[in-house]
Amino acid sequence: MHAAQGEPLEGLPEVELAADGRELPRRRRARLDARRLRPLQHEERDSGRRDRGRYELPLAVPSEKRHGRHGSLSPMRVLVTGGAGFIGSHFVRRLAAAGDEVVVLDKLTYAGNQANLDAVEHEFRRGDIADADVVAEAAAGCDAIVNFAAETHVDRSILGPADFILTDVLGTQVLLDHARHHGLRHLQVSTDEVYGDIEPNAPAATEESPLRASSPYSASKAGGDLQVLAYVRTYGVDALITRGANTYGPRQYPEKFLPLFITNALDGEHLPVYGDGRQRREWLHVEDHCAGIELALREGRAGEVYNVGGQERENMEVVRRILDLTRGSPDLVRHVADRPGHDRRYAVDSSKLRALGWSPKHSFDAGGLAGTVDWYRANREWWEPIKSGDYRAYYEQQYAARLGA
Ligand code: NAD
Ligand code: TYD
Repeated sequence: MHAAQGEPLEGLPEVELAADGRELPRRRRARLDARRLRPLQHEERDSGRRDRGRYELPLAVPSEKRHGRHGSLSPMRVLVTGGAGFIGSHFVRRLAAAGDEVVVLDKLTYAGNQANLDAVEHEFRRGDIADADVVAEAAAGCDAIVNFAAETHVDRSILGPADFILTDVLGTQVLLDHARHHGLRHLQVSTDEVYGDIEPNAPAATEESPLRASSPYSASKAGGDLQVLAYVRTYGVDALITRGANTYGPRQYPEKFLPLFITNALDGEHLPVYGDGRQRREWLHVEDHCAGIELALREGRAGEVYNVGGQERENMEVVRRILDLTRGSPDLVRHVADRPGHDRRYAVDSSKLRALGWSPKHSFDAGGLAGTVDWYRANREWWEPIKSGDYRAYYEQQYAARLGA
């Protein structure tokens, strides 16, 4: 990481020991000094920010760097973990196009695919975010970490939660430790699922709503989020969280609802609807999700959470749209045994991120879903090898009994 211009280097001794006995270089100490906790000012409290007796952290990454997209001469170097997955790969594309330097650290689990980053300028490292040495090597010289790396599928978390805790909780904590000791900003990419089931007519969850995770997946994401907030408060780490809604778009692994149903419909295979299909989700285009994450990275405040919402639809409504767009027969629909603990509804209030300047550009009904179906129709070479590989064993385990096959 490079020292910011104008940092108060004067008058600092060459070497000082940190609390744990390590030597802190002069430049890094200057950055840490600049980030000392200060109480919120009255005018900040009055400008719509709630005073929760918390402390505000000046940002670790100087603003002339964070503003790269708006023509800065000083781009950031960002470690994007999980950058070979669905949302992470779109985000890497976006930062690279904005002129930032990107290092991707990805374990390449079943969900990771280096081909997702073809023709995108980046440095690639294969490795696990739960390995501190691997993280230290990948993060060398970086200003910020954006953590997409996670086990992400609810159904797989029901089959076996352990990997979810290792990556989503322990892995997050290892990244936070690195951010803590090296003065990096950490943005945690989280999910609206941490708020759990939202009652049918209840207002959407705000960032202040309680965490009521239902599945091993959402519980592990909530565990990661709580570590982030604990590191902000306890160690003064410059970290923040985004909580995105159900995301859709090109290059999503075909285990999740939309890509599974689109590709099955294109192949004339059954569409396994869990239970009555009356569950509701907010659908957020991947580009809009990434725009929200980027804005939070550049403009968000340490210790804050930002919801990134989408358009709420009932599952059966989405199934009917997929059948229209793929010209699939309604006979493909099978109502199958429900997912245990299945949340009926997710809904989030995104007004806090909107106040920072975010607004979605894609409409689910006017082009968003249709464009995604077109992408899967035109890119069989991306998903056919996935569906004929190891995926098959997972599909059998998850659906064979349900579909009576
Ligand atoms: P994905 O499953 O497509 O990709 C996850 C990526 O993380 C893969 O490339 C995988 O190889 C990598 N990974 C997994 N474990 C790792 C480890 N231990 N070390 C390094 N890399 C590892 O996921 P996605 O859908 O792109 O989701 C990305 C993030 O966004 C996740 O944190 C998820 O919780 C969050 N999120 C997803 C959605 C959604 O609808 N997909 C919505 C909101 C939030
Ligand atoms: P999913 O994509 O797994 O996301 P979430 O994490 O929100 O559960 O599922 C979205 C919705 O679609 C959810 O209500 C479960 C439902 N669903 C099915 O009905 N059948 C399926 O095979 C899958 C994967 C999901």
